[in-house]
Amino acid sequence: MSTAGQVIKCKAAVAWEPGKPLVIEDVEVSPPKPHEVRIKVVATGVCHTDWEYLYKSGKGMKFRPFPLVLGHEGAGEVESVGPGVSKFSAGDKVIPLFLPQCGECERCLSPKTNHCRKNWANTQAGVLADGTSRISCRGQQVFQFLGVSSFSQYTVVPDTSVAKIRSDAPLDKVCLLGCGVSTGYGAALNAGKVEKDSTCAVFGLGAVGLAAVMGCQVAGAKRIIGIDINPDKFEKAKLFGATDCVNPREHSRDIQEVLVEMTGGGVDFALECVGNPDVMTAALESTTDAWGVCVVAGWTETEAMKVAVEKILMGRTLKGTYFGGWKSVRDIPMLADDYMKKKLKLDEFITHTLPLGQTNVAFDLLASGKSIRSVISLWDDST
Ligand code: APR
Ligand code: ZN
Ligand code: ZN
Repeated sequence: MSTAGQVIKCKAAVAWEPGKPLVIEDVEVSPPKPHEVRIKVVATGVCHTDWEYLYKSGKGMKFRPFPLVLGHEGAGEVESVGPGVSKFSAGDKVIPLFLPQCGECERCLSPKTNHCRKNWANTQAGVLADGTSRISCRGQQVFQFLGVSSFSQYTVVPDTSVAKIRSDAPLDKVCLLGCGVSTGYGAALNAGKVEKDSTCAVFGLGAVGLAAVMGCQVAGAKRIIGIDINPDKFEKAKLFGATDCVNPREHSRDIQEVLVEMTGGGVDFALECVGNPDVMTAALESTTDAWGVCVVAGWTETEAMKVAVEKILMGRTLKGTYFGGWKSVRDIPMLADDYMKKKLKLDEFITHTLPLGQTNVAFDLLASGKSIRSVISLWDDST
């Protein structure tokens, strides 16, 4: 029986207040309004940023509206579309996007950036274009994290925030393209423009960092040094292409000094995939002073990074990247294609697969460094 046009009752993991575990609730998801798409979410990765919003909101992070449904690394099928939607229809396999590509704004028209401005302020505020969310629980509006909310069995997003992927792509794998893997991979390829035979350093070997290592390898880097304070990450880093691994805690000197010495003058490219301002400074200073490029892919919103002017005067470049520089609607289907052609790894990132009822367990695994990515299977009834 078609659910189009009706309010759908389904399960979602609701964050009622910061710092408290998620609660599995029955929620109501309204039909899509004009230029919106309702998606049946099949699988979602659990990203560091989901955890940070819940446990650090108001504590080193800007406060966000609660209650909200987190999750922004999902994949699913179109259930129905609102008036005026022409590019999608029921049954299409899709990835909902926290970064849209409207194709019309100044930034979408520029090849220099992927940073579409459409609905930007609303997305940050957890609502859709009309200023409201489509999800409610016990009569109360529940905000949509980054405009997505993939920790819900159904969600509604703008039609500019949907990437249609090939129909044979496994949703429980390609969901990872919705954030972490694309971010790290693009940080190396698009932002860093890592060169063949270069020497690279990747700081932080979580999903973002491992994807950056993979990007460096695809670009043909000769030496890829993985850096993490958790040595349990090294085995996987080598699988993704790291040639050396270094634990800063095993050295009494600053890690940048160690790297400059190891490489006889500094690396060509450094990719920061932790989100820590001190690590960002170390990453910049680990590059060769004449042409080193440091890309910041990790994220922090209230802390400042220290840059000594003399460190950039000789020619180093410091740059940031958002969603790996990918033009989301155009490029995510291409990355899904690359995965299907075995050019890009995804399975290797997944350390745990859990039902929706265990999303808090996925958070614990992430916070304790025991997982790379947990994938939540939204329709698995076991708890
Ligand atoms: N030096 C080196 N590595 C560190 C340090 C440090 N000082 N501090 C933490 N790390 C390592 C952790 O041990 C972990 O392996 O960084 C890694 C971060 O991985 P995850 O927590 O799995 O995070 P991930 O999802 O990869 O995201 C990394 O990118 O998108 C942003 O918000 C996200 O800022 C976060 C970053
Ligand atoms: Zn745009
Ligand atoms: Zn993310």
